[in-house]
Amino acid sequence: MHAPAPARLGRQQTHLLSRRPLQTAQPIWRHGHQRTHRLIPPVSSLPPTLRPLLASDHAATAQLLHRSLVDWYQSRLNQGARFGASADPFRLFPEVYAALDPGEALAACDPTSGDLLGVCFVHPRPTHIALGIVATAPEAQGRGVARALLAPALALARRTQRPVRLVSSLLNLDSFSLYSRLGFVPHTIYQDLTLTVPAAGLPGSPPPGAARVRLVTDPVEAPRLAAFELAWQGLDRTTDYTFFLRNSVGDWRTWVLENAAGELEGFLVASHHPSCVMLGPGVTRDETAAAALLWRALDAQRGASPVFLVPCTAAGLVHQCYAWGARNVELHAAQALGPVAPARGLTFPTFLPETG
Ligand SMILES: CC(C)(COP(=O)(O)OP(=O)(O)OC[C@H]1O[C@@H](n2cnc3c(N)ncnc32)[C@H](O)[C@@H]1OP(=O)(O)O)[C@@H](O)C(=O)NCCC(=O)NCCS
Repeated sequence: MHAPAPARLGRQQTHLLSRRPLQTAQPIWRHGHQRTHRLIPPVSSLPPTLRPLLASDHAATAQLLHRSLVDWYQSRLNQGARFGASADPFRLFPEVYAALDPGEALAACDPTSGDLLGVCFVHPRPTHIALGIVATAPEAQGRGVARALLAPALALARRTQRPVRLVSSLLNLDSFSLYSRLGFVPHTIYQDLTLTVPAAGLPGSPPPGAARVRLVTDPVEAPRLAAFELAWQGLDRTTDYTFFLRNSVGDWRTWVLENAAGELEGFLVASHHPSCVMLGPGVTRDETAAAALLWRALDAQRGASPVFLVPCTAAGLVHQCYAWGARNVELHAAQALGPVAPARGLTFPTFLPETG
C-alpha cells in the first residue's frame, strides 16, 4: 500500500510528505539491505506465525510502522525524516482500523520470540477487499513476511470472487514489486499534493459551487454517500462513511456538494487529526465539483498543510491546485487484483483508511 502516515504537525516535526526534513531526525539506521540495529534481537529463520492484531499490540504496531518506513525511505531515498522522529502519531492507524474493521488486521510474529515482525490491515467490503498498510520490520524484510501477511486476504478474495484494491507508492519499488508479483495491475496514477493553507485563506476567488458545499455530521447521511460512490465508482463503502460520520475515533469532517435540485454532485472527507492531516476519501462527478469541495475542505484547514491525492488525468484540477500553492510530494498508483469496477467521475483516495 501507499506510504502512509503523517508525522504529527508541530514545531519540530513536519508532515510525512512535507519537503522540509526534520531537524531532530536521528540517522539511527544504516543504509543498505544488510543493516542491523543494535537493539533488535536476531530474527528466527522459521516462517512467521500469523495471528490477529490485538489492542495490546498498538504501541508495538506504531513502532513497527514508523521504524520500517523510516528505514526503507532513509536507506533507499534518504528521506526517512519525512516520517518524523516519533512513532506516536502512528498509533492512529491501528486505533482507526480496530474501530473500523475489528479483527481484520493481521500480525506476523517471530515463532521463537513472539516479537512483531510485520502487520497488514485489511478492509473487506461488499464489492471488493481493500488492503491497507503492509509493513515488515527492517531486520525481517526480504523473507516472505509481507507475502505471508497478504495470503489470507487474497484467499478470501478468491473464495468470495471479489477484487482486491489498494493504492501503492510509486517511489517505493519494494512495495510496488510485492503487489506486481502477486498479480496486481495499476489502473490509475495519482499525484500527492500538499499545500500550507495561508491563515488568510487560499488566494483568489472561491471556485464555482464552493458556496454550496456544506458539512454533514449525521450518520444517517452515510448510505447516500455510499450510493453515490457505488453509482459513480462501483464501490460500496457504507461502513467507511458511517465510521467517518460517527467520528468517534480520529477527527473527521465530511463535506458534500449538491446541485440546485438537492442532488449530490460529490463529497469529500477530511482528516483533521493532528497525526494525519489529509483530505480524502472523496468522489465527485467532475473536476468542477472536485475544485469546489477541495477549496472548502482546504479553507477549513487554515494554517495546516494537508496532503491530498489527485488523479493525474484531472489536469485542470491539478493546475488549480498549483495556483492555490500546492506542491507535488509523491506519486501513487491505484492497483487491483481482479476486475476493476467501471468508474466515472473523479476520486480522492486516502491513506487513512486506505481506499484502494
Ligand atoms: C514493502 C515491504 C512491506 C515488503 O515486505 P517484505 O516482508 O520484505 O516482502 P516479502 O519478502 O514478503 O516479498 C517481497 C517480494 O517482492 C519482491 N521484490 C522486492 N523487490 C523487488 C524488485 N525490485 N523487483 C521485483 N521483485 C521485487 C521479492 O522478490 C518478493 O517476491 P517473491 O516472494 O516472489 O520473491 C517492506 O519492504 C516494508 O515494510 N517496507 C517499509 C514499509 C512500506 O513501505 N510499506 C508499504 C507501504 S505502506
